[in-house]
Amino acid sequence: MSLGGITIERVDTRDACQEFARLPYHIYAAREAWWPPDIQSEIDMITRKTHFAPFLDLEAFSARRRGRMVARVSAVVNHRYIQHWSEQLGHLIHFEAYEGEEDAAVAMIEAAAESLAGRGMKAARSGFAAFLDYPYAIDGYGRLPSFLLRGNPPHYHRCFKRAGFETEKGQTDFTAELTSELLERYRRSVAAATAAGVAIKSWREYGFLAAIDAWTDVTNAAFLRHWGWNPVTRAEMRPMLASLWETPVADLSMLAVIDDEPVGAVFSVPDMTTMLAQVRRGVRLEPSRGGGTRGALVNIGVKESARGRGIAAAMASRSFLRMAERRMRFAGYTLVLDDNWASRRTAESLGAHITANFITYRRNL
Ligand SMILES: CC(C)(COP(=O)(O)OP(=O)(O)OC[C@H]1O[C@@H](n2cnc3c(N)ncnc32)[C@H](O)[C@@H]1OP(=O)(O)O)[C@@H](O)C(=O)NCCC(=O)NCCS
Repeated sequence: MSLGGITIERVDTRDACQEFARLPYHIYAAREAWWPPDIQSEIDMITRKTHFAPFLDLEAFSARRRGRMVARVSAVVNHRYIQHWSEQLGHLIHFEAYEGEEDAAVAMIEAAAESLAGRGMKAARSGFAAFLDYPYAIDGYGRLPSFLLRGNPPHYHRCFKRAGFETEKGQTDFTAELTSELLERYRRSVAAATAAGVAIKSWREYGFLAAIDAWTDVTNAAFLRHWGWNPVTRAEMRPMLASLWETPVADLSMLAVIDDEPVGAVFSVPDMTTMLAQVRRGVRLEPSRGGGTRGALVNIGVKESARGRGIAAAMASRSFLRMAERRMRFAGYTLVLDDNWASRRTAESLGAHITANFITYRRNL
């Protein structure tokens, strides 16, 4: 398809895949700090070489203006999602576009939406798919977002709205400053859980490999009806997480165990900015954003039968205490749906405040 110098193409050659994966490096080149994607992982994803491949049908698209790639997106049919929710919903992931190239981006989104419709999808979502996509920032533009989250420029919203999308969900990112007062609150929370017969163990204490399976089972149970989620298997999580056993993840991630049964799970990471963020030379990140001082809880779940007894608060508390021992001064509590009051209250009970906002888009096809 070609209109006014714009060409919309399927990405199916090795060179085009490389260019697709490298596009964010151009779009975010002027940023002081940003999270670059792993090029090889993106190429593996679009060439179907990932653990997810058996569950996904993916078609990658790009828009070019006079030959130069100016926007990209992947149209994904996630069979696990469809089976889980009995909903013919496809996902648009990997979206990026240069500012000033909205016509090209909108034409590309239309082509990607048609591809989903052609594969039987009745709706498209962009901004959330478990392990595949994260929502679009609506504030904090130009600032380094929390680990895993998008730091998209504002014009992305014009692209999606022009392509007929609506806001489907709002999401929030929280941050707690690990003051001595809060650390004392966390100690009390862990002590109360322990006194009630709930053991809060780090993944290292539990046994890291067994903890991966426990996390998978607890998370699948806790997130069963959580919007946007689809179940994952032990077989795919093991290779994805096993290499983290020798990192602080093993000490910061927690399980809650009652009578040998894991009932709660937390996955937390240390400050990833020093390893993974691209920070321009001479730039010092705010301590609440990174530079060695910001850890993050990225996932928390408690089985329904054990809820409302302070278990989430106790697991997060112990995780945050461990972060403080490792000289982190801030802890993220990352990505809560606006209508997930149980999780919002948990974040607030940990003394965390809202520090960034995001949305996910949807369009009927
Ligand atoms: C969110 C979740 C982890 C909370 O687990 P929990 O063990 O029941 O939470 P806690 O008992 O530790 O409660 C922590 C705080 O949240 C409040 N809270 C918990 N559930 C609540 C609910 N359904 N409505 C309102 N407040 C609630 C508690 O009152 C407590 O606040 P307080 O200390 O001010 O009294 C649990 O509901 C869950 O697993 N949900 C499904 C998965 C999920 O949504 N995970 C979070 C994704 S961001």
